[in-house]
Amino acid sequence: VNVALLGFGTVGQSVARLLVDSTAPLRLTHIFNRAVARKRVDWMPSDVRWTERMDDVLVPEVDILVEVVGGLDPAGCWLRQAFAAGKSVVTANKQLMAHEGGELLRLAAQHKVHLGFEAAVAGGIPVIRAIREGLAGDQLQRITGILNGTCNYMLTRMEADKLSFDAALKEAQQRGFAEADPTDDLDGYDARAKLCILARIGLHVALRPADVPCRSIRPLTDIDFIYAHRLGYTIRQLSRVERQTAGSGPAPAVAASVEPALVRRGSVLAGVRGSENHVLTIGERGGETGFSGRGAGGDPTAVAILSDVLAIVRHTSPPGWFREVADDRPARVIDEHPCPHYLRFVVRDRPGIIATLATRLAEHDLNIDAVLQESGWPKEALPFVITLEAARREVVDRALDEIAPLDFNVERPVSLPIVD
Ligand SMILES: NC(=O)c1ccc[n+]([C@@H]2O[C@H](COP(=O)([O-])OP(=O)(O)OC[C@H]3O[C@@H](n4cnc5c(N)ncnc54)[C@H](OP(=O)(O)O)[C@@H]3O)[C@@H](O)[C@H]2O)c1
Repeated sequence: VNVALLGFGTVGQSVARLLVDSTAPLRLTHIFNRAVARKRVDWMPSDVRWTERMDDVLVPEVDILVEVVGGLDPAGCWLRQAFAAGKSVVTANKQLMAHEGGELLRLAAQHKVHLGFEAAVAGGIPVIRAIREGLAGDQLQRITGILNGTCNYMLTRMEADKLSFDAALKEAQQRGFAEADPTDDLDGYDARAKLCILARIGLHVALRPADVPCRSIRPLTDIDFIYAHRLGYTIRQLSRVERQTAGSGPAPAVAASVEPALVRRGSVLAGVRGSENHVLTIGERGGETGFSGRGAGGDPTAVAILSDVLAIVRHTSPPGWFREVADDRPARVIDEHPCPHYLRFVVRDRPGIIATLATRLAEHDLNIDAVLQESGWPKEALPFVITLEAARREVVDRALDEIAPLDFNVERPVSLPIVD
């Protein structure tokens, strides 16, 4: 399957890398960008064609177009041209999908081609597919999201290190989490576009971005976090859309907004930190379902794009051609990686128990990290804990099989892996 790439910026370069390294039956054939000569990189296979002419990519050889240029125009025009030429398209363009998604999806269906837009919402989190397919059986009532990594990064930095708004913004820009012009992120327009896309696929309503009220996070200061904490809350930029039964008229009614809001500390949304994203759906039957992960960045976004490309290949290839498992022989299950362990003993106390245990463990090359014993327990059934440095589970189990019958044990010692 031949893929042409429109746009060779942050996401485009990550997509190209994934395509070049992919073991799937995919071939990158064209890279389209304005003033393309300055974009060339030495790691690109020599048969990939670099071009600044759209006509070059609308050739029969190309099966799928990946659009990672952004903006409404001319991207929308290119998508229409691609559909007319019988090509499926995968895009990361949230503004285009929020403003023209309904029409573009209809047009793609008319031309019997696919339009994938997983990467347009929450970067690497496969929330579009999860809602469209995994939750298709439910009637979603509400979608709440932390959809903008820049705002979340800044708010969590203001919260954790008492940074001022300006210092948090400067740091976000230095670390590549915020654009030079952060208006779309800070004032909610980026999250609003994503919310409109989620409303379409999750609540099945066509929501116009301009109709969704946005409030900026710009007025917030560290003082707001002090007071929010005192009340048991923190602050996150929340995007919300909820189906409304009231006010029924010819068109469906929803409540929708993008704004900074207080969320209870200890809640799932308060736990979303840094540039992470989170989408929470509430369904009539299935209740609450959450999706979290990296919401932006070249590589996570490129993963979403490649997944869309592969989904199209799977849908359009003959049954059985696209195989998940190349080798159907059952895989051998082997012990997992070594990890630290927690061992809990309950013993009839007497001198020398720790020394005996240390010797027995050492015979298996197991190294003690710490010994913990709380006071206040009876000597006839005294619990204490030994933690071990990283070791394989089967070695720990073998050592405990030898230790368990020793007469000071009141019960068989318990062993748990410590997973960080
Ligand atoms: N970055 C992320 O983390 C992320 C996450 C999710 C979705 N997205 C979406 O992915 C898309 C691309 O984002 P990005 O961060 O990769 O942007 P970017 O780094 O600015 O890349 C855009 C590329 O398109 C080229 N381009 C712009 N206008 C063009 C035109 N009229 N004709 C031909 N080429 C043009 C640019 O060329 P120049 O070098 O000349 O500017 C650049 O190479 C956007 O829709 C964005 O919303 C991005």
